Amino acid sequence: MTDSVAEVLSQAEGCPLHQLNPMHPELLKRPWGMNRRLRHEAPVFQDPVSGIFFVSRYEDVVRMAMDHRTFSSKMLSSTRALSSTIDSEILEIMEQGYPQVATMLTQDPPLQRRYRKFVDGAFSPANLKALEPFIERTANELIDKFIDSGRCEFLSAFGVQLPLRVIVSQLGVPMSDIALCRKWTEAFIGNLSQQLDRGGLIQAAKDMLEFQHYFAARIEERRLEPQQDILSKIVNASIDGEKQLSKAESLSMISQILVAGNETTSASLSEGIWLLIENPDQYELLRENPSTEMISRFVEEVLRISSPSSNMFRRAAKEVVMQGVTVPKDAILFARFASANQDEEQFPEPESFNLMRDNLKDQVAFGKGVHHCLGAALSRREMNIGFRVILERLENFRLAEDASPPSFSANVLLHGLSGLDLAFDKVR
Ligand code: HEM
Repeated sequence: MTDSVAEVLSQAEGCPLHQLNPMHPELLKRPWGMNRRLRHEAPVFQDPVSGIFFVSRYEDVVRMAMDHRTFSSKMLSSTRALSSTIDSEILEIMEQGYPQVATMLTQDPPLQRRYRKFVDGAFSPANLKALEPFIERTANELIDKFIDSGRCEFLSAFGVQLPLRVIVSQLGVPMSDIALCRKWTEAFIGNLSQQLDRGGLIQAAKDMLEFQHYFAARIEERRLEPQQDILSKIVNASIDGEKQLSKAESLSMISQILVAGNETTSASLSEGIWLLIENPDQYELLRENPSTEMISRFVEEVLRISSPSSNMFRRAAKEVVMQGVTVPKDAILFARFASANQDEEQFPEPESFNLMRDNLKDQVAFGKGVHHCLGAALSRREMNIGFRVILERLENFRLAEDASPPSFSANVLLHGLSGLDLAFDKVR
């Protein structure tokens, strides 16, 4: 850590609250100290710069997730929720595409439920069961590529690839277009991060436009010739006799599935391996007993600690008082899932990584209530199978000799490692 980073972090823990800038990139990367302080001193804290209310305690975050009438998710997009103005060049690019439409994540019931009905079936237990051999085969193929070298950059070699391949196959996109899907995911994430300069935002807008045109063409194809994939379900389903979704609605749903389905699971897979390196006693526990139950415990605790969807926005549909703070109508709030998962009132010794916690299932990494993650069961399967295959084939995880400890990337809504230089031995 450089001095300036250390300075920002310690200032955050010691500065008067009105001087705190919770959106500072260093605090987005390493939010734990600040989160602890906010939970204790200002559980509902208005960021003086952005005006956003940060809600940090477990009980309040759960209240927000469960009460969609007071805490609305309805916005055109998460980016629009966070910035009031849009650059004219970016607007020009957007005008060449399809209009933004609020669907699942950015919509309230009853419309939100209607959109979910189009895709819920694709994530049914039977469909996910049928997907298990593909997940296992893909995990093995990825490991085959790097196992002989004894090291890899785990995030790009495995963490990113497993969920990306699964979601691309489920959407029905050819594997030859996987690099494009990755590029578009990065554009959406960059756009959400609030960390791009103007040039970066313009490039992201161009990539998102390319995404729209690519999938608009696939939508046309699926209308003419439906396949066994999520795209065909979105395009051709007619729920309760209602008309089919428009192209703009379909594109909004596809972008949410692509982005949410990739980045978050990648982050948890990679942080899981890092947590094993940092916690040799828990690694030993898992190695001694790699049963289905223990791997499932491991997955839940990784989800709690990593909480890759760290903040989700809401808009106050009416004035509301929380923890003695009056939040005015139309204010933007963050439901801080990552901070809730570290709340000491809910999880004793919250920073310790402990597979044997007795309330692992209380973690809220996938949210709660009507917006509870569409892909939670898929993601859990990817993690349970992915980690099992890794533990069967690789052992003695450590940082590669010349590597520095991994750092986290700065993003307002998402949290995850920016890379992991891993060394390992083959299981004999
Ligand atoms: C570790 C992996 C994942 C995490 C931590 C995660 C987290 C979340 C959270 C916290 C929410 C609730 C948002 C809110 O309340 O505003 C959510 C919703 C959602 N997630 Fe995930 N997610 C993950 C994986 C996935 C996957 C694999 C998919 C798709 C295949 C997916 C698709 C969605 C969608 C579409 C929504 C919006 C649902 C709605 O609003 O009705 N997620 N996710």
